[in-house]
Amino acid sequence: LPPPDGMLNHPGLFAACLRPRARNTHKGSFGDVVLLGGASGMAGAVVLAARAALHAGAGRTYAAFIGPVPVYDDAHPELMCRAAHEIDLARKVVVAGPGMGSGEAARAALTAALKSPMPAVFDADALNLLASDRSLMQALADRGNLQQPSLLTPHPLEAARLLGMKVAEVQSDRLAAARALAESANAVVILKGAGSIIAAPDRPFVINPTGNPALATGGTGDVLAGLCGALLAQGWPAHEAALGAAWMHGHAADELVRKGVGPIGLTASELIPALRLCLNQL
Ligand code: APR
Ligand code: MG
Repeated sequence: LPPPDGMLNHPGLFAACLRPRARNTHKGSFGDVVLLGGASGMAGAVVLAARAALHAGAGRTYAAFIGPVPVYDDAHPELMCRAAHEIDLARKVVVAGPGMGSGEAARAALTAALKSPMPAVFDADALNLLASDRSLMQALADRGNLQQPSLLTPHPLEAARLLGMKVAEVQSDRLAAARALAESANAVVILKGAGSIIAAPDRPFVINPTGNPALATGGTGDVLAGLCGALLAQGWPAHEAALGAAWMHGHAADELVRKGVGPIGLTASELIPALRLCLNQL
């Protein structure tokens, strides 16, 4: 393998996307994002992703549930809770997968998300569903041909399922795995884990240097997916959104550890305000 094309050791690669907010903007200027997931027993995953999108600056944030729909999020009544089968996806960036499950309703919701002309993020159970069904995978590849950007955020096991490989094979050559997945899905890929790799069919790959083992706790991936959705909703191109989200997600965790909030016991929820601080400081 050739040496890495690039180490993302400064946020300069995505800095151009961070524009000051003009005085006369309104919520319509920052996009709508819908987080699609939350099967029964896994509502927390979609709530975490939605809270991350809200705090990362999306104009309007919807949480759409496969399972029971909460009346509202007590901690964040700004979030609009909907049933997955009722949500109108038109003109909304969609983040499909957090806690989505693998049942028929999840499959129907994913099928609708794949048809969206808007940029979309596929995470967690959406990736597992894609791995289990060739026609869904084809619909994903078709999005790329139609200039409908897709961003995939697999952890190594999800990547292995998508590639039909063993996790050990993915981990033994993470660069090759990320590239192969970007090619076959025709999408931008963040292969997560220590040193997340960002790959895209037509771009040099990048290794993200931020982040630490404090992130090895349930829900941090959901927060990353929500952050990706918020950046896309604010008009970031998919590749820059992937670079920016991976860098900020890790950087926020690094800052928290510096303050003693981790590495032991950092929660995914605590990562969210740290991400907001990071975005505003950049
Ligand atoms: N160093 C740096 N970053 C790390 C480290 C580490 N040692 N460990 C984890 N991370 C980061 C990853 O790069 C990723 O951004 O934390 C995040 C973890 O994401 P996931 O693996 O998706 O974890 P989680 O959100 O808990 O997933 C919840 O969804 O994806 C499914 O199967 C998964 O059931 C699980 C659920
Ligand atoms: Mg995950």
